[in-house]
Amino acid sequence: MKIYRYKKLPSTQEKAKRLKVKEDTAVFADFQTKGKGTKGRSFSSETGGVYLSLIKLYPEKAKDAFKIMVSSAVAVVKTLEAFGIKAGIKWPNDIFVSGKKICGILIENELSGEDIKKSIIGIGINVNSKIPEELKDIAVSAKEILGEPLSVESVGATLLYNLTFDYSIEEYKKHSLVLDRAVTVVAGDEKFVATAKDITNTGELVLESGEKLSSAEISIIL
Ligand code: BTN
Repeated sequence: MKIYRYKKLPSTQEKAKRLKVKEDTAVFADFQTKGKGTKGRSFSSETGGVYLSLIKLYPEKAKDAFKIMVSSAVAVVKTLEAFGIKAGIKWPNDIFVSGKKICGILIENELSGEDIKKSIIGIGINVNSKIPEELKDIAVSAKEILGEPLSVESVGATLLYNLTFDYSIEEYKKHSLVLDRAVTVVAGDEKFVATAKDITNTGELVLESGEKLSSAEISIIL
């Protein structure tokens, strides 16, 4: 595996997308000026966080794309656990501690027929990074949880190591913060409370009513 480390980048994700690679490749930055989140949102990327985009070549068949999210989310939970932080997964791609977001995951796949030619797994963890005032109610850093800073390099290296494993959907579910809980579902103009009962192998959230929700269409509030 190749590893690139930059002091500053607009976005490791955009950098990784432009790289022509022949093997799995990791791109780290100390901070990002245009950190990219899901659904066209931005991702706050102050110094002191881990900002990684990992390029994986032919990781899964296109129909099994959710497995990449499963393994990535569990890898983050295990990484935080290794540093004494108990985190959970808010379906589908956020990692939470004490009711606040500590990490976001953005996966972008390049398809070729039934294959995923290239998956770019973007992960941002608030390690020692300052949480901007306007995000204080919804985001948290490892430093705030532990009361002391961590080595950003060690967290990054542990994460990269944990990302070399495949984890099962059972493990993902074990760490889920939504299963068997009442969640507020926001789908377009609609907003309702429902109990989440299961997560399918293709990443849909199954409600008690039997209705299946895809992350593309909805957001949930814990
Ligand atoms: C989200 O919470 O919406 C996903 C956030 C993903 C952020 C990571 S940080 C590393 C990589 N580079 C980016 O610009 N975004 C991802």
